[in-house]
Order: sequence, then C-alpha cells, then structure tokens
Amino acid sequence: MERTLVLIKPDGVQRGLVGEILGRFERRGLHLVGLKLLAVDRARAERHYAEHRERPFFEAVIEFISSSPVVAMVWEGPSVTALVRSMMGPTNPAGAAPGTIRGDFGVDIGQNVIHGSDSPGRAEEEIGLFFSSEELVSWERAGTSWIYP
Ligand code: RTP
Ligand code: MG
Repeated sequence: MERTLVLIKPDGVQRGLVGEILGRFERRGLHLVGLKLLAVDRARAERHYAEHRERPFFEAVIEFISSSPVVAMVWEGPSVTALVRSMMGPTNPAGAAPGTIRGDFGVDIGQNVIHGSDSPGRAEEEIGLFFSSEELVSWERAGTSWIYP
C-alpha cells in the first residue's frame, strides 16, 4: 500500500491548524502510520528541498521550514500521494480552490501551510528523511474495509 509524507509547516503549527488538517485526512479515510512534532534543522531542510537548490527561493524555504516546529505525518492509502496533493491544492494559495487546505487557510506562496510529497518515489525518500523504521507503525484500523478493499 502506498505511503506519503505530509508536513504541517511552521505557519500551520503556529496558527493552531494541526487538528483541523489531521482531521481532514482522517475523515477522508486515510490511514495514519507515523506522527511527530519536530524542529527541522538546516541540514535536514537542505536535503528535503535539494531539488530546489538552484532556485531563487531556496534560501527562503530553508529558513522558513527551520524557523519553528513542524508536524510530520505518514499517511497510507490507495494513490495516497496524489490524493493528498489534491486535498492540499496548488503551491500558490492565490490559485487554490476553497475546500483545499491551501485554499481554505493560505494566502502567501511561502507560507502555504502544508507540504506533501509530489510522487510515490519522492514519498519513499522523504519518509526515510523524517522517520526511522521504528517510528512507522503497522496496525489495523477498524472499518478500513468500508473505505477501500
Ligand atoms: P511543497 O514541496 O512545500 O509541498 O510545495 P509544492 O510541491 O507545492 O511546491 P514546490 O515547487 O516543491 O516548492 C516548494 C516550496 O517553495 C516555495 N516556493 N516559492 N516564490 C516562489 O516562486 C516559490 N515557489 C515555490 C513554496 O512555499 C513551496 O511550497
Ligand atoms: Mg514540492
């Protein structure tokens, strides 16, 4: 079963949106297998955003993600990476539809509340960057068969 990494970014944690955002994924029927609050240091931030190293906004995203704690989560489900990305909305909240997380809570492209892996392959790498194998819990949730087979 596919897994994906979600980060509630510093702005989402500071604004008290953790429960709201986590609840959306729970209600959608996704399966939680990892969850923690952590401070992201510069080294981890640079590895996480390595694909953007040459972009003009690189320094800004590194500073922002390491400015205050984040909540890291691993969610499991069918096509969960694409499903989470659709619930997040596009990178720039200005173009995010109401009903999406960025469309409901974001205004600024830098402070866009949430990160989600952009492909299943990246998800595997990002999960490895944020969680040890002992921190990922395999468990059976009552009622999953009423959500997906
Ligand atoms: P994320 O990685 O945070 O989930 O966001 P994303 O996939 O939607 O966007 P990505 O292209 O990976 O960009 C990473 C983060 O960099 C900031 N950004 N700023 N000023 C700009 O043009 C710009 N472009 C991107 C955003 O905060 C974005 O989430
Ligand atoms: Mg991205």
